[in-house]
Amino acid sequence: MVKALEGVRILDFTHVQSGPTCTQLLAWFGADVIKVERPGVGDITRGQLVDVPEADSLYFTMLNHNKRSITIDTKNPEGKRVLEELIKICDVMVENFAPGALDRMGFSWERIQEINPRIILASIKGFGPGPYEDCKVYENVAQCTGGSASTTGFRDGLPLVTGSQIGDSGTGLHLALGIVTALFQRTHTGRGQKVSAAMQDAVLNLCRVKLRDQQRLAHGPLREYSQFGEGIEFGDAVPRAGNDSGGGQPGRILKCKGWETDPNAYIYFITQAPVWEKICDVIGEPDWKTHPDYAKPAARLPRLNAIFARIEQWTMTMDKFEAMNILNKYDIPCGPILSMKELAEDESLRATGTVVEVDHPVRGSYLTVGNPIKLSDSPTEVTRSPLLGEHTEEILREVLKFSDDKIEDILATGALGVTSKVAAE
Ligand SMILES: CC(C)(COP(=O)(O)OP(=O)(O)OC[C@H]1O[C@@H](n2cnc3c(N)ncnc32)[C@H](O)[C@@H]1OP(=O)(O)O)[C@@H](O)C(=O)NCCC(=O)NCCS
Repeated sequence: MVKALEGVRILDFTHVQSGPTCTQLLAWFGADVIKVERPGVGDITRGQLVDVPEADSLYFTMLNHNKRSITIDTKNPEGKRVLEELIKICDVMVENFAPGALDRMGFSWERIQEINPRIILASIKGFGPGPYEDCKVYENVAQCTGGSASTTGFRDGLPLVTGSQIGDSGTGLHLALGIVTALFQRTHTGRGQKVSAAMQDAVLNLCRVKLRDQQRLAHGPLREYSQFGEGIEFGDAVPRAGNDSGGGQPGRILKCKGWETDPNAYIYFITQAPVWEKICDVIGEPDWKTHPDYAKPAARLPRLNAIFARIEQWTMTMDKFEAMNILNKYDIPCGPILSMKELAEDESLRATGTVVEVDHPVRGSYLTVGNPIKLSDSPTEVTRSPLLGEHTEEILREVLKFSDDKIEDILATGALGVTSKVAAE
């Protein structure tokens, strides 16, 4: 079966997390992704958070499936020539180096267009144009500068970063959409273009409901936030709202049986208005259906703490899965707090390929998250990440169509790390 992006060749000049998540998605959709790495070193994540000595770390393997690896010293003149040849025959070049690094290497956008006017250059930086455009940025910096940290956590506690990698993987997702959109536009124009995604922008995009609330503040208190019911005044910026639901349907994390010892014995419970009467019946408060303090959503808002305390008395009588089963029968939206252990063992996630077991020649088998986006005509098979420079010769021969003599000459310069074919074998 032909994959969705079959025939698209990606020059993957990315490292760490944000860029690699983008190119991994494109590889899962069938693109031929050629990862360019520094000889002898490679993507820095290969050696970070190592669990199995001598093996590429899970950090690297889990972000670089379905790719090929070529090592090139792109600061060496011969290495630059090889990179130029790759730019000529690729559809997309993706990079997430520090601001200015690609220009310093001699590959400005203008130069790249000269080499290949059809190529799409896709870049991730921490910030867009402005006062911080030259800054290096990692995940948590983006979470802090994109509005996530100031709105995550409890009102009386520190700003918090989240476990979801919205700055890195979130920006990678944004960039992937930009790339396929530019590929589509190229079918009309015949031209490439530059696609940019800033991590601050991506996080802010994912936090757009909080910018909504910022503007609502001008018209009065945010009545669905717990602090409204607690009688605590709002300041001039959106406060942290703990586990209050982000939407118009109040929700909370509530204890379930076993919470004293199990850190994940909790359920998220949403008091969705259309099922309020069922909630009253389930928790044993049928009078609330008609009581003026509880019957209507607006009346409930100042009383959310008391309401959720009562619901929690009910959820604490059973474990999170029992609660989920009962509530689902009544279409009451809820979700158990699932640990990474529970997710890793989840049969249904394995059945859909969202959790996949992959074999690796050095580390053996490991679990990863497969492609979360399912295409009916383009199924994803997750294959292991490449070893450093594993495909260097293959790419020179099969992709660039270099002769054996030319390959030998290039290897002898040391620009690709290995100095001869013999050494490469
Ligand atoms: C992530 C980040 C902070 C890492 O910084 P870093 O480890 O110092 O890496 P840099 O991107 O600055 O690159 C380091 C150098 O390696 C060089 N390099 C990279 N690949 C090379 C290769 N194959 N051959 C030779 N040199 C290479 C770069 O040209 C750069 O050299 P320079 O500083 O002389 O210009 C930075 O790349 C960045 O801010 N990226 C943009 C935002 C981003 O994606 N952040 C999230 C990462 S998950």
